[in-house]
Amino acid sequence: MHFVKIKTKIQKFNKVLSIEGDKSLSIRWALIASQSEYKSKSENLLLSEDVINTLKCLKKLGVKVKISKNFCEINGVGLNGFKYKKNLILNAGNSGTLGRLIMGLLTHSKRAIKLKGDKSLSKRDFQRIIKPLKKFGADFKSNLGKLPIIIKGTNNPNPIVYNETKGSAQVKSSLMLAALNTSGETIIKAKKSRDHSELLFKYLKLPIKVKKIKDYDLIKIKGKKKIPALNYKLPSDISSCAFFIVLTILSKNSKLKIRNVNINPSRVGILHILNMMGVKIQKVNIKEYKGEKIADLVIKSTKNIKAINCPSRLNSSAIDEFLLIFLVAAKAKGVSYFKDLSELNEKESPRLKWGSKILNKMGIKNILSDKSIKIYGNPNLKIKKKIVIKDFLKDHRVFMTATVAALIFGGDWSIANKDAINTSFPSFLKKIKYLGAKIR
Ligand code: S3P
Repeated sequence: MHFVKIKTKIQKFNKVLSIEGDKSLSIRWALIASQSEYKSKSENLLLSEDVINTLKCLKKLGVKVKISKNFCEINGVGLNGFKYKKNLILNAGNSGTLGRLIMGLLTHSKRAIKLKGDKSLSKRDFQRIIKPLKKFGADFKSNLGKLPIIIKGTNNPNPIVYNETKGSAQVKSSLMLAALNTSGETIIKAKKSRDHSELLFKYLKLPIKVKKIKDYDLIKIKGKKKIPALNYKLPSDISSCAFFIVLTILSKNSKLKIRNVNINPSRVGILHILNMMGVKIQKVNIKEYKGEKIADLVIKSTKNIKAINCPSRLNSSAIDEFLLIFLVAAKAKGVSYFKDLSELNEKESPRLKWGSKILNKMGIKNILSDKSIKIYGNPNLKIKKKIVIKDFLKDHRVFMTATVAALIFGGDWSIANKDAINTSFPSFLKKIKYLGAKIR
Protein backbone atom coordinates (compact mmCIF):
# COMPACT_ATOMS: atom_id res chain seq x y z
CA MET A 1 0.00 0.00 0.00
CA HIS A 2 1.36 3.44 -0.91
CA PHE A 3 1.39 6.08 1.83
CA VAL A 4 1.73 9.85 1.62
CA LYS A 5 4.16 10.97 4.36
CA ILE A 6 3.86 14.28 6.19
CA LYS A 7 6.28 15.20 8.96
CA THR A 8 6.34 18.98 8.85
CA LYS A 9 3.66 21.52 9.69
CA ILE A 10 2.75 24.05 7.02
CA GLN A 11 4.55 27.43 7.34
CA LYS A 12 2.68 30.72 7.07
CA PHE A 13 1.34 31.56 3.60
CA ASN A 14 -0.44 34.38 1.81
CA LYS A 15 -1.87 33.18 -1.51
CA VAL A 16 -4.71 33.29 -4.00
CA LEU A 17 -6.28 30.07 -5.30
CA SER A 18 -8.76 28.99 -7.97
CA ILE A 19 -10.40 25.64 -7.38
CA GLU A 20 -12.13 23.24 -9.78
CA GLY A 21 -15.81 23.26 -10.69
CA ASP A 22 -18.54 22.09 -8.35
CA LYS A 23 -19.06 18.28 -8.40
CA SER A 24 -22.81 18.31 -7.73
CA LEU A 25 -23.33 20.85 -10.51
CA SER A 26 -20.95 19.11 -12.94
CA ILE A 27 -22.86 15.82 -12.69
CA ARG A 28 -26.24 17.58 -12.90
CA TRP A 29 -25.10 19.61 -15.94
CA ALA A 30 -24.11 16.44 -17.84
CA LEU A 31 -27.28 14.52 -16.97
CA ILE A 32 -29.65 17.38 -17.79
CA ALA A 33 -27.74 18.30 -20.99
CA SER A 34 -28.18 14.68 -22.14
CA GLN A 35 -31.96 15.15 -21.99
CA SER A 36 -31.99 18.22 -24.22
CA GLU A 37 -32.37 17.88 -28.00
CA TYR A 38 -29.69 20.52 -28.46
CA LYS A 39 -25.97 20.91 -27.99
CA SER A 40 -24.89 22.16 -24.53
CA LYS A 41 -21.49 23.49 -23.58
CA SER A 42 -19.83 23.76 -20.18
CA GLU A 43 -16.70 25.55 -19.02
CA ASN A 44 -14.68 24.69 -15.92
CA LEU A 45 -16.43 21.32 -15.68
CA LEU A 46 -14.83 19.25 -12.91
CA LEU A 47 -12.91 16.51 -14.71
CA SER A 48 -12.66 14.19 -11.73
CA GLU A 49 -13.43 10.44 -11.75
CA ASP A 50 -17.05 10.94 -10.59
CA VAL A 51 -17.76 13.31 -13.47
CA ILE A 52 -15.79 11.28 -16.03
CA ASN A 53 -17.81 8.22 -14.99
CA THR A 54 -20.96 10.27 -15.59
CA LEU A 55 -19.80 11.11 -19.11
CA LYS A 56 -18.83 7.46 -19.75
CA CYS A 57 -22.29 6.24 -18.67
CA LEU A 58 -23.94 8.80 -20.94
CA LYS A 59 -21.76 7.73 -23.89
CA LYS A 60 -22.87 4.12 -23.35
CA LEU A 61 -26.45 5.38 -23.50
CA GLY A 62 -25.84 6.87 -26.95
CA VAL A 63 -25.06 10.46 -25.94
CA LYS A 64 -22.28 12.25 -27.85
CA VAL A 65 -19.74 13.87 -25.55
CA LYS A 66 -16.76 15.97 -26.58
CA ILE A 67 -14.14 16.95 -24.03
CA SER A 68 -11.48 19.49 -24.93
CA LYS A 69 -9.03 21.51 -22.87
CA ASN A 70 -11.33 24.43 -22.13
CA PHE A 71 -14.83 23.05 -22.45
CA CYS A 72 -17.06 20.00 -22.66
CA GLU A 73 -19.90 19.61 -25.15
CA ILE A 74 -22.86 17.27 -24.96
CA ASN A 75 -25.19 16.57 -27.87
CA GLY A 76 -28.38 15.72 -26.02
CA VAL A 77 -30.63 12.88 -27.20
CA GLY A 78 -33.85 14.43 -25.88
CA LEU A 79 -36.25 13.02 -23.30
CA ASN A 80 -36.57 9.25 -23.56
CA GLY A 81 -33.87 9.28 -26.25
CA PHE A 82 -31.23 6.92 -24.80
CA LYS A 83 -30.10 4.27 -27.31
CA TYR A 84 -28.06 1.34 -26.09
CA LYS A 85 -27.27 -2.28 -26.73
CA LYS A 86 -28.65 -5.34 -24.94
CA ASN A 87 -27.26 -6.33 -21.52
CA LEU A 88 -25.77 -2.89 -20.94
CA ILE A 89 -23.74 -2.46 -17.76
CA LEU A 90 -23.20 1.04 -16.38
CA ASN A 91 -20.50 1.69 -13.79
CA ALA A 92 -21.04 4.57 -11.34
CA GLY A 93 -17.60 4.01 -9.78
CA ASN A 94 -17.40 5.77 -6.40
CA SER A 95 -20.22 8.23 -7.03
CA GLY A 96 -23.49 8.08 -5.08
CA THR A 97 -24.68 11.19 -6.93
CA LEU A 98 -24.17 9.60 -10.34
CA GLY A 99 -25.58 6.20 -9.28
CA ARG A 100 -28.73 7.63 -7.75
CA LEU A 101 -29.41 10.43 -10.23
CA ILE A 102 -28.94 8.33 -13.35
CA MET A 103 -31.43 5.80 -12.01
CA GLY A 104 -34.05 8.54 -12.24
CA LEU A 105 -33.35 8.94 -15.96
CA LEU A 106 -33.49 5.18 -16.53
CA THR A 107 -37.04 4.68 -15.23
CA HIS A 108 -38.30 5.04 -18.81
CA SER A 109 -35.68 2.79 -20.45
CA LYS A 110 -37.58 -0.40 -21.31
CA ARG A 111 -34.59 -2.68 -21.93
CA ALA A 112 -32.94 -3.86 -18.70
CA ILE A 113 -29.70 -2.14 -17.60
CA LYS A 114 -27.34 -3.23 -14.86
CA LEU A 115 -25.85 -0.52 -12.64
CA LYS A 116 -22.76 -1.29 -10.60
CA GLY A 117 -20.19 0.64 -8.57
CA ASP A 118 -16.90 0.25 -6.68
CA LYS A 119 -16.50 -1.43 -3.29
CA SER A 120 -17.48 1.72 -1.37
CA LEU A 121 -20.59 2.46 -3.48
CA SER A 122 -21.66 -1.20 -3.32
CA LYS A 123 -21.96 -0.88 0.46
CA ARG A 124 -24.25 2.17 0.26
CA ASP A 125 -28.04 2.26 0.52
CA PHE A 126 -29.95 2.35 -2.75
CA GLN A 127 -33.26 1.28 -1.20
CA ARG A 128 -33.86 4.98 -0.54
CA ILE A 129 -34.08 5.49 -4.29
CA ILE A 130 -35.55 2.14 -5.43
CA LYS A 131 -38.62 2.66 -3.23
CA PRO A 132 -39.80 5.95 -4.78
CA LEU A 133 -38.65 5.10 -8.32
CA LYS A 134 -40.83 1.95 -8.25
CA LYS A 135 -43.83 4.24 -7.87
CA PHE A 136 -43.11 5.65 -11.36
CA GLY A 137 -43.69 2.09 -12.68
CA ALA A 138 -40.08 0.94 -13.09
CA ASP A 139 -38.87 -2.43 -11.83
CA PHE A 140 -35.67 -3.11 -9.87
CA LYS A 141 -33.76 -6.22 -8.86
CA SER A 142 -31.09 -5.74 -6.23
CA ASN A 143 -29.32 -7.46 -3.41
CA LEU A 144 -31.25 -6.01 -0.43
CA GLY A 145 -31.20 -2.49 -1.87
CA LYS A 146 -27.47 -2.48 -2.71
CA LEU A 147 -25.61 -2.37 -6.03
CA PRO A 148 -25.46 -4.07 -8.48
CA ILE A 149 -29.04 -3.28 -9.45
CA ILE A 150 -30.92 -4.30 -12.58
CA ILE A 151 -33.27 -1.56 -13.72
CA LYS A 152 -36.15 -2.25 -16.07
CA GLY A 153 -37.94 0.92 -16.96
CA THR A 154 -41.45 1.45 -18.22
CA ASN A 155 -42.67 2.95 -21.52
CA ASN A 156 -45.08 5.14 -19.74
CA PRO A 157 -43.89 6.31 -16.32
CA ASN A 158 -46.64 7.87 -14.22
CA PRO A 159 -46.23 10.95 -12.03
CA ILE A 160 -45.92 10.32 -8.30
CA VAL A 161 -46.45 11.97 -4.92
CA TYR A 162 -43.58 11.32 -2.50
CA ASN A 163 -42.46 12.39 0.93
CA GLU A 164 -38.61 12.51 1.08
CA THR A 165 -37.65 12.44 4.76
CA LYS A 166 -33.85 11.93 4.79
CA GLY A 167 -32.92 15.36 3.44
CA SER A 168 -31.15 13.67 0.53
CA ALA A 169 -30.55 15.88 -2.50
CA GLN A 170 -29.62 12.76 -4.44
CA VAL A 171 -33.03 11.17 -3.86
CA LYS A 172 -34.86 14.45 -4.53
CA SER A 173 -32.92 15.13 -7.75
CA SER A 174 -33.35 11.58 -9.03
CA LEU A 175 -37.13 11.89 -8.61
CA MET A 176 -37.06 15.28 -10.34
CA LEU A 177 -35.24 13.75 -13.32
CA ALA A 178 -37.67 10.82 -13.46
CA ALA A 179 -40.58 13.30 -13.33
CA LEU A 180 -39.37 14.90 -16.59
CA ASN A 181 -40.52 11.80 -18.47
CA THR A 182 -44.04 11.58 -17.11
CA SER A 183 -47.13 13.22 -18.55
CA GLY A 184 -48.55 14.73 -15.41
CA GLU A 185 -47.50 16.45 -12.23
CA THR A 186 -45.08 14.91 -9.73
CA ILE A 187 -45.21 16.28 -6.19
CA ILE A 188 -42.23 15.86 -3.87
CA LYS A 189 -42.30 16.96 -0.26
CA ALA A 190 -38.58 17.07 0.46
CA LYS A 191 -36.72 17.69 3.71
CA LYS A 192 -34.31 20.59 3.07
CA SER A 193 -31.19 19.69 1.06
CA ARG A 194 -28.99 21.30 -1.61
CA ASP A 195 -31.18 22.84 -4.32
CA HIS A 196 -28.97 22.88 -7.46
CA SER A 197 -31.43 20.75 -9.45
CA GLU A 198 -34.34 23.08 -8.65
CA LEU A 199 -32.25 26.12 -9.68
CA LEU A 200 -31.22 24.50 -12.97
CA PHE A 201 -34.82 23.48 -13.76
CA LYS A 202 -35.95 27.05 -13.05
CA TYR A 203 -33.16 28.54 -15.16
CA LEU A 204 -34.23 26.29 -18.06
CA LYS A 205 -37.82 27.50 -17.56
CA LEU A 206 -39.10 23.97 -17.02
CA PRO A 207 -42.52 23.83 -15.35
CA ILE A 208 -41.36 23.58 -11.74
CA LYS A 209 -42.87 25.21 -8.67
CA VAL A 210 -41.03 25.25 -5.36
CA LYS A 211 -42.78 26.32 -2.18
CA LYS A 212 -40.38 26.78 0.72
CA ILE A 213 -41.97 25.74 4.00
CA LYS A 214 -40.13 25.71 7.36
CA ASP A 215 -38.35 22.32 7.39
CA TYR A 216 -39.16 21.13 3.89
CA ASP A 217 -39.81 22.20 0.31
CA LEU A 218 -42.86 21.31 -1.75
CA ILE A 219 -41.74 20.71 -5.33
CA LYS A 220 -44.16 20.29 -8.23
CA ILE A 221 -42.91 19.32 -11.70
CA LYS A 222 -44.86 18.82 -14.91
CA GLY A 223 -43.13 16.45 -17.34
CA LYS A 224 -42.87 15.92 -21.09
CA LYS A 225 -41.58 19.41 -21.85
CA LYS A 226 -38.66 19.94 -24.22
CA ILE A 227 -35.40 20.77 -22.47
CA PRO A 228 -33.43 23.70 -23.91
CA ALA A 229 -29.63 23.69 -24.26
CA LEU A 230 -27.81 24.23 -20.97
CA ASN A 231 -24.65 26.28 -21.45
CA TYR A 232 -22.92 26.59 -18.11
CA LYS A 233 -19.71 27.87 -16.56
CA LEU A 234 -19.11 25.99 -13.34
CA PRO A 235 -18.23 27.90 -10.16
CA SER A 236 -15.76 26.39 -7.65
CA ASP A 237 -16.89 23.69 -5.27
CA ILE A 238 -17.23 24.92 -1.67
CA SER A 239 -16.73 21.32 -0.49
CA SER A 240 -13.25 21.29 -2.09
CA CYS A 241 -12.51 24.85 -0.93
CA ALA A 242 -13.37 23.74 2.62
CA PHE A 243 -10.02 21.88 2.98
CA PHE A 244 -8.17 25.12 2.26
CA ILE A 245 -10.51 27.19 4.40
CA VAL A 246 -9.83 25.01 7.44
CA LEU A 247 -6.09 24.76 6.66
CA THR A 248 -5.86 28.55 6.62
CA ILE A 249 -7.94 29.12 9.75
CA LEU A 250 -5.92 26.66 11.82
CA SER A 251 -2.45 27.60 10.54
CA LYS A 252 -0.48 30.55 11.93
CA ASN A 253 -0.38 34.07 10.41
CA SER A 254 -1.76 32.96 7.04
CA LYS A 255 -4.17 34.43 4.55
CA LEU A 256 -5.91 32.96 1.52
CA LYS A 257 -8.26 34.23 -1.13
CA ILE A 258 -10.29 31.69 -3.11
CA ARG A 259 -11.90 32.97 -6.27
CA ASN A 260 -15.35 32.35 -7.69
CA VAL A 261 -16.78 30.00 -5.09
CA ASN A 262 -20.36 28.74 -5.22
CA ILE A 263 -21.96 30.09 -2.04
CA ASN A 264 -25.43 28.69 -2.65
CA PRO A 265 -27.18 29.04 0.76
CA SER A 266 -27.95 25.30 0.79
CA ARG A 267 -24.19 24.55 0.70
CA VAL A 268 -22.62 27.06 3.09
CA GLY A 269 -23.38 25.37 6.41
CA ILE A 270 -19.62 25.25 7.06
CA LEU A 271 -19.42 29.06 6.91
CA HIS A 272 -22.27 29.40 9.44
CA ILE A 273 -20.75 26.80 11.76
CA LEU A 274 -17.30 28.40 11.58
CA ASN A 275 -18.87 31.77 12.27
CA MET A 276 -20.44 30.36 15.44
CA MET A 277 -16.96 29.11 16.40
CA GLY A 278 -15.58 32.65 16.13
CA VAL A 279 -14.14 32.48 12.59
CA LYS A 280 -14.82 35.40 10.27
CA ILE A 281 -14.68 34.68 6.55
CA GLN A 282 -15.14 37.60 4.22
CA LYS A 283 -17.22 37.29 1.04
CA VAL A 284 -16.28 39.78 -1.67
CA ASN A 285 -17.31 40.30 -5.25
CA ILE A 286 -20.70 38.65 -4.70
CA LYS A 287 -22.68 37.94 -7.88
CA GLU A 288 -25.47 35.75 -9.26
CA TYR A 289 -24.95 33.19 -12.00
CA LYS A 290 -27.92 31.34 -13.51
CA GLY A 291 -29.63 31.10 -10.12
CA GLU A 292 -26.48 30.27 -8.11
CA LYS A 293 -24.68 32.74 -5.82
CA ILE A 294 -20.92 33.19 -6.31
CA ALA A 295 -18.25 35.08 -4.33
CA ASP A 296 -14.53 35.28 -3.62
CA LEU A 297 -13.71 34.15 -0.08
CA VAL A 298 -11.02 35.78 2.04
CA ILE A 299 -9.83 33.60 4.92
CA LYS A 300 -7.38 34.38 7.73
CA SER A 301 -5.75 32.37 10.53
CA THR A 302 -7.95 32.50 13.62
CA LYS A 303 -6.97 32.30 17.26
CA ASN A 304 -9.39 31.47 20.09
CA ILE A 305 -11.76 29.03 18.42
CA LYS A 306 -14.98 28.55 20.41
CA ALA A 307 -16.65 25.21 21.11
CA ILE A 308 -20.27 24.88 19.92
CA ASN A 309 -23.42 22.87 20.27
CA CYS A 310 -24.05 22.64 16.53
CA PRO A 311 -27.74 23.11 15.61
CA SER A 312 -28.89 20.17 13.48
CA ARG A 313 -30.71 22.51 11.08
CA LEU A 314 -27.22 23.21 9.63
CA ASN A 315 -26.38 19.52 9.07
CA SER A 316 -27.65 19.18 5.52
CA SER A 317 -25.88 22.31 4.24
CA ALA A 318 -22.55 21.17 5.76
CA ILE A 319 -22.94 17.43 5.26
CA ASP A 320 -19.72 16.90 3.25
CA GLU A 321 -17.63 19.14 5.53
CA PHE A 322 -18.09 17.56 8.98
CA LEU A 323 -14.74 15.72 9.06
CA LEU A 324 -13.07 19.11 8.66
CA ILE A 325 -15.39 20.80 11.16
CA PHE A 326 -14.36 18.12 13.70
CA LEU A 327 -10.72 19.22 13.24
CA VAL A 328 -11.71 22.80 14.05
CA ALA A 329 -13.57 21.52 17.14
CA ALA A 330 -10.38 19.67 18.15
CA LYS A 331 -8.63 23.04 18.37
CA ALA A 332 -11.52 24.81 20.18
CA LYS A 333 -11.61 25.77 23.83
CA GLY A 334 -14.27 23.57 25.40
CA VAL A 335 -16.53 20.70 24.39
CA SER A 336 -18.37 20.73 21.06
CA TYR A 337 -21.42 18.64 20.27
CA PHE A 338 -22.67 17.55 16.83
CA LYS A 339 -25.96 15.62 16.68
CA ASP A 340 -28.51 13.99 14.32
CA LEU A 341 -25.70 13.00 11.98
CA SER A 342 -26.62 9.39 11.13
CA GLU A 343 -26.51 10.32 7.40
CA LEU A 344 -22.77 10.91 7.79
CA ASN A 345 -22.27 7.17 8.17
CA GLU A 346 -24.02 6.65 4.79
CA LYS A 347 -21.26 8.33 2.76
CA GLU A 348 -18.27 6.92 0.81
CA SER A 349 -17.15 5.46 4.14
CA PRO A 350 -18.87 5.75 7.54
CA ARG A 351 -17.58 9.27 8.13
CA LEU A 352 -18.94 9.88 11.62
CA LYS A 353 -16.93 6.84 12.77
CA TRP A 354 -13.91 8.01 10.75
CA GLY A 355 -14.11 11.45 12.34
CA SER A 356 -13.91 9.84 15.77
CA LYS A 357 -11.09 7.50 14.69
CA ILE A 358 -8.95 10.36 13.37
CA LEU A 359 -9.53 12.36 16.58
CA ASN A 360 -8.59 9.31 18.71
CA LYS A 361 -5.35 8.94 16.78
CA MET A 362 -4.64 12.63 17.34
CA GLY A 363 -5.19 12.22 21.09
CA ILE A 364 -8.43 14.21 21.18
CA LYS A 365 -10.99 12.79 23.57
CA ASN A 366 -14.38 12.26 21.94
CA ILE A 367 -17.59 10.39 22.67
CA LEU A 368 -19.26 8.78 19.68
CA SER A 369 -22.78 7.37 19.20
CA ASP A 370 -24.56 6.18 16.01
CA LYS A 371 -25.59 9.74 15.27
CA SER A 372 -23.65 12.18 17.42
CA ILE A 373 -20.17 13.09 18.58
CA LYS A 374 -18.90 15.12 21.53
CA ILE A 375 -15.42 16.55 20.98
CA TYR A 376 -13.21 17.73 23.86
CA GLY A 377 -11.12 20.45 22.22
CA ASN A 378 -7.51 21.25 23.08
CA PRO A 379 -6.31 24.68 21.84
CA ASN A 380 -2.70 23.71 22.64
CA LEU A 381 -2.69 20.38 20.81
CA LYS A 382 0.74 19.47 19.44
CA ILE A 383 1.15 15.96 18.08
CA LYS A 384 4.57 14.32 18.41
CA LYS A 385 3.79 10.66 17.63
CA LYS A 386 3.41 8.51 14.52
CA ILE A 387 -0.06 8.35 13.01
CA VAL A 388 -1.15 5.92 10.31
CA ILE A 389 -4.42 6.43 8.44
CA LYS A 390 -5.58 3.46 6.37
CA ASP A 391 -9.05 3.69 4.88
CA PHE A 392 -10.06 0.43 3.26
CA LEU A 393 -12.96 2.03 1.45
CA LYS A 394 -12.11 4.68 -1.09
CA ASP A 395 -13.04 7.97 0.62
CA HIS A 396 -11.50 11.11 -0.84
CA ARG A 397 -12.62 13.27 2.09
CA VAL A 398 -10.94 11.03 4.68
CA PHE A 399 -7.61 11.29 2.84
CA MET A 400 -7.81 15.07 2.41
CA THR A 401 -8.95 15.69 6.01
CA ALA A 402 -6.05 13.62 7.38
CA THR A 403 -3.65 15.62 5.19
CA VAL A 404 -4.96 18.92 6.60
CA ALA A 405 -4.71 17.54 10.17
CA ALA A 406 -1.08 16.50 9.60
CA LEU A 407 -0.15 19.94 8.25
CA ILE A 408 -1.78 21.73 11.20
CA PHE A 409 -1.14 19.64 14.27
CA GLY A 410 2.27 18.13 13.48
CA GLY A 411 3.42 14.55 14.16
CA ASP A 412 4.68 11.93 11.76
CA TRP A 413 1.78 10.94 9.49
CA SER A 414 1.44 8.16 6.90
CA ILE A 415 -1.81 8.43 4.97
CA ALA A 416 -2.98 5.76 2.54
CA ASN A 417 -5.25 6.03 -0.49
CA LYS A 418 -3.87 9.14 -2.16
CA ASP A 419 -5.63 8.20 -5.41
CA ALA A 420 -8.99 8.73 -3.72
CA ILE A 421 -8.59 12.48 -4.38
CA ASN A 422 -9.27 11.79 -8.05
CA THR A 423 -12.97 11.24 -7.34
CA SER A 424 -13.56 14.90 -6.48
CA PHE A 425 -10.37 16.98 -6.38
CA PRO A 426 -7.52 15.72 -8.59
CA SER A 427 -5.33 18.80 -8.05
CA PHE A 428 -5.62 18.73 -4.22
CA LEU A 429 -2.01 17.78 -3.47
CA LYS A 430 -0.64 20.13 -6.12
CA LYS A 431 -2.53 23.01 -4.52
CA ILE A 432 -1.46 22.03 -1.00
CA LYS A 433 2.16 22.07 -2.21
CA TYR A 434 1.59 25.45 -3.86
CA LEU A 435 0.78 26.80 -0.39
CA GLY A 436 4.19 25.53 0.75
CA ALA A 437 3.39 22.14 2.32
CA LYS A 438 6.12 19.51 2.36
CA ILE A 439 4.67 16.18 1.35
CA ARG A 440 6.33 12.99 0.17
C1 S3P B 1 -24.95 15.38 -3.23
C2 S3P B 1 -25.74 15.28 -2.13
C3 S3P B 1 -25.26 14.86 -0.80
C4 S3P B 1 -23.74 14.95 -0.71
C5 S3P B 1 -23.06 14.40 -1.92
C6 S3P B 1 -23.50 15.13 -3.18
C7 S3P B 1 -25.55 15.80 -4.51
O1 S3P B 1 -25.66 13.53 -0.56
O2 S3P B 1 -23.29 14.28 0.45
O3 S3P B 1 -21.65 14.53 -1.79
O4 S3P B 1 -24.83 16.20 -5.44
O5 S3P B 1 -26.79 15.75 -4.62
P1 S3P B 1 -27.15 13.17 -0.06
O6 S3P B 1 -28.07 13.78 -0.99
O7 S3P B 1 -27.19 11.69 -0.04
O8 S3P B 1 -27.23 13.76 1.31
